[in-house]
Amino acid sequence: MSDMRFGDVRSLCDMNEGVLSPLVFTDEAIYQLELDRIFGRAWVLLCPAGQIPAPGDFFNTYVGADRVIVVRQKDGSVKALLNQCRHRGNELIRQDSGNVKAITCTYHGWSWDTAGSLRSVPYEDIVFPEGFDKSAWGCVQMAQVDTYKGLVFGTWDPSAPTLIDYLGDAAWYLDTPLDRFEGGMELMGGVNKWIVKANWKIIAEQFVNDMLHPEMTHISALIASVPPGADMSNMQLPVTGRQFTSPQGHGMGLWTDGPILDLTLGERVKHYLVDDSYAAAVARVGKARADVQAAHMTLFPTGVVLFGFNHIRVIHPVSVDESEIWTWQLSPAAAPPEVKQLWAKNSQRAFGAGGLFETEDSAVWSGIQRTMKGAIGRRHPFAVQMGDRVNRGPDPDYPGRVTQRAYSEVAARGFYHRWLEMLTSENWREMDRAAQARYAEGGHQ
Ligand code: FES
Ligand SMILES: [Fe+2]
Repeated sequence: MSDMRFGDVRSLCDMNEGVLSPLVFTDEAIYQLELDRIFGRAWVLLCPAGQIPAPGDFFNTYVGADRVIVVRQKDGSVKALLNQCRHRGNELIRQDSGNVKAITCTYHGWSWDTAGSLRSVPYEDIVFPEGFDKSAWGCVQMAQVDTYKGLVFGTWDPSAPTLIDYLGDAAWYLDTPLDRFEGGMELMGGVNKWIVKANWKIIAEQFVNDMLHPEMTHISALIASVPPGADMSNMQLPVTGRQFTSPQGHGMGLWTDGPILDLTLGERVKHYLVDDSYAAAVARVGKARADVQAAHMTLFPTGVVLFGFNHIRVIHPVSVDESEIWTWQLSPAAAPPEVKQLWAKNSQRAFGAGGLFETEDSAVWSGIQRTMKGAIGRRHPFAVQMGDRVNRGPDPDYPGRVTQRAYSEVAARGFYHRWLEMLTSENWREMDRAAQARYAEGGHQ
């Protein structure tokens, strides 16, 4: 492990110049710093609320490298408990999900209620003849847990801003998939999980901004998806669209036209999205959002939403060079059953563990990680400089900072700006000041 000091981190990531060292993806000390300063403080996407609908329902997940039990309370609220016994550290729950009335450790039998209060210790009056203050040994729990339009988030940091402030302008964009349909979204099935041998930021960065790669990386999947006899002249993906970036590090690229939905979700689902439900969507979320056909967004640090596909994912940073991807499929609750089924099936065919697009992306992500193993491959910096400068005036249709085309790396620079600010700031006020400075006149392009 190298001795990584904050000054060193700053020298590895210069987003004013758009220069990034490979060491940010390979250095163990940076990874440890991320666990502490990013995953120990940021609002992290935990799961869709539909994963834990009833009191006592739990979902076993990670926040950074910490195991966390997300559990529905009797009053309908949600708590997120560290999956670690306060007696001697045993994992409290090993199942992926289920329903519990109490959480009992398999080592010596200490038992907590679902709110994380220690309720019983075996032979308490014998093993603690002097008495024992059980109230001091509740489960460690996330300081704030909140839900936005059916997605559950949590932070360990009591001083973190509220979830809605943390999301900022990203919330407006998030409503596009989450609030577009009358009756809301429902969870289709459970969670799918797989491992990619790549640092978490390589994956998060693609979803924050990379609208350019599909024509190259996914050309095989796109060609394979063209129906027999279809007009191949329509294969070019649109340059039109927007890219959104925010002080909080969230970002997205979006398209409002092009063949991507025909080629991935199929005619019936596209028909439901852009014809059947369009007028109601305009009334609900406005034309700008109803017009979004395909888009992907990263909610800093590791929450991902694929618009159009109704696909949610979290990128778990299990080690410096390996990530676990966990995904969920949503569908409009009011859609006809055959549309829901097709949506889930076609979305999985594109972005499931063995999905046509997913395997192509995974090959690139793990390929990047492999090139940085060597002494020379980790020495030379990467260019993060693609332009289409952020619109200086307000965009009439889209809030926040947006480009006028889909192709840019401005949201990647926003992502790494925030990454560096979180690693090097002592508190949220410092982070906010740094973001304000880069958003001041002439800053952050
Ligand atoms: S380690 Fe859990 S009760 Fe002892
Ligand atoms: Fe991709």
